[in-house]
Amino acid sequence: MHHLLIMEELGGNAWWFDRFLAQHIAIFYYFMTAFMYALSPRMAYHFSECVEGHAFETYDKFIKAQGVELKKLPAPTVAIKYYTEGDLYLFDEFQTARPPNSRRPKIENLYDVFMNIRDDEAEHCKTMKACQSHGSIRSPHSYPDDERDDDSGCIVPEADCQGIVDCIKKSVKDPGAMKN
Ligand SMILES: [Fe+2]
Repeated sequence: MHHLLIMEELGGNAWWFDRFLAQHIAIFYYFMTAFMYALSPRMAYHFSECVEGHAFETYDKFIKAQGVELKKLPAPTVAIKYYTEGDLYLFDEFQTARPPNSRRPKIENLYDVFMNIRDDEAEHCKTMKACQSHGSIRSPHSYPDDERDDDSGCIVPEADCQGIVDCIKKSVKDPGAMKN
């Protein structure tokens, strides 16, 4: 949501067709991933990991190509607020592979903004990867500092079966195990 607000402040929502396209793709994407999740949560998380990875690479290329220009431009107010001001509890909620308070960006220009958007995508990528092996994640704030699993934010045990494909496979292989 904050990446979107930043792009809007930079003028990305100026043309109605861009808004129209983005909103309709978002609806399509939502239903597509929800359908994938019903079939297999692992598949949906893997797909999202690929999307986040692609986003990281795209921002990385952009920063490398436009870095000098970006450093001369001011940061949008919404970016300064999101990354540096007020209660950063929600910001930390999205850093599932690191302890709260361990990432505090400095935002001095537009270059810093895009660097941090890119780094956000890397964090999303780690979260999507962790969800594939653990099934579900817990809030990073719910761990006492000494109990953190640095590999991911996930210690919730896997459900008996995950998604329609997994349920069908397990019920064919071992029908007795699916009674509960
Ligand atoms: Fe993302």
